[in-house]
Amino acid sequence: PTNHHWHQSSATPEQTPPRSQTLCTRREAYERAFPLYKQPVEVGCFSLDSQRRFFNDSRQMRYYVEPDRSPNFDLSDGYRGRYVKRDENVKEKLDHILRWIVANRSKLKSKLSPDASCPLDFDFVTWRGHLTKLLTTPYETREGWLLAVTRFNGTLYISEVETEAARRERENRPERNQEMMYWGYKFEQYMCADKTYSEPDSSGVVNTNEAFCTVVQTRLTDHKLLFSGEVDCRDKDPDAPPPPACYVELKTSAEICTPKQRSNFHRFKLLKWWAQSFLPGVPRVVAGFRDHDGIVVSVETFQISKISQLIKNEYNCWKPTVCMNFCCDFLSFVKREATEDNPSVVYLFSWEPHKDVTYSVHRDSQYSFLPDWYIKEMTC
Ligand code: A3P
Ligand code: MG
Ligand code: MG
Repeated sequence: PTNHHWHQSSATPEQTPPRSQTLCTRREAYERAFPLYKQPVEVGCFSLDSQRRFFNDSRQMRYYVEPDRSPNFDLSDGYRGRYVKRDENVKEKLDHILRWIVANRSKLKSKLSPDASCPLDFDFVTWRGHLTKLLTTPYETREGWLLAVTRFNGTLYISEVETEAARRERENRPERNQEMMYWGYKFEQYMCADKTYSEPDSSGVVNTNEAFCTVVQTRLTDHKLLFSGEVDCRDKDPDAPPPPACYVELKTSAEICTPKQRSNFHRFKLLKWWAQSFLPGVPRVVAGFRDHDGIVVSVETFQISKISQLIKNEYNCWKPTVCMNFCCDFLSFVKREATEDNPSVVYLFSWEPHKDVTYSVHRDSQYSFLPDWYIKEMTC
């Protein structure tokens, strides 16, 4: 037989490898053309108040205020005495997003049944932060993740489960790290005003229960996504573009003094910053660089669209296309494997650095996360 025949005869069903129940996370596997990612559109927003109560409005919106050139913000100010910390033992799962969906389902009309509220015309519903973790997975070497997935009325809901390692780390967080977590929120207070016409008030309490969240819809190749993410503030100019283009993400980072520190900033920090803001279409990050004592010594703006250029000279650096292609393939993997449409079934996807993604299936377990009130509201 000719080579051609050999090739044909080898393409028998028993020779084709079985469809894998795992997903590879190696960078090289995702180096291809950038996938289609539609411009994210804001479809709504919600607020969480100082007691973490949900409101279907923008009452917690804050406004960006341009700081002095050398600001000298003391990020430790108020750590003892003017700090109300959100209770991290309370697991909210997707509850706030689900409340938003129930309150706004008339404006989320389905193409299949434009008069009914279900099924939802989205393949995936999740938090932006969960997608950020997916985008950075091919480059993550320290922290794994657990993502619970439930298929309900054809939509896949993705909700993170805290890993044992993350819980241990949280419960044993050194005092210094606790204080450094406060620094990020204190920076927001120095940079934001409550009203378009007011100034920041750094004498007030920092309460991390408070949040303003945007809800956006977009599409990654053939995956229709609805997700929500916290937004730090917006441009107060009334002529600023509509959301999400007017939003500003605030960040703090250690000041950069050596070429090594600059390289690490590009390779690790900018990856996280890019992923978080690119997803909802937030165009800029304003960074406060601080010294060891938590004093902000300079402030710099980074355009998200320019970050890939900034990092190009870095050796062996991360690539946006790898992040997006991995996320896209993970969502395809979830669609293919999480087939049973049942609100009490959870497909638990699990990943540890240097390993493949695997999953297990759980019925009526501790992992179920769609509340009864949501199932009742959305069952027609
Ligand atoms: P910094 O990012 O400036 O350190 P966000 O930037 O996403 O709006 O989050 C605000 C702040 O919350 C962060 O400010 C940081 O202080 C804290 N924070 C957010 N995610 C965190 C995490 N995974 N671990 C520790 N702190 C976190
Ligand atoms: Mg924030
Ligand atoms: Mg921020």
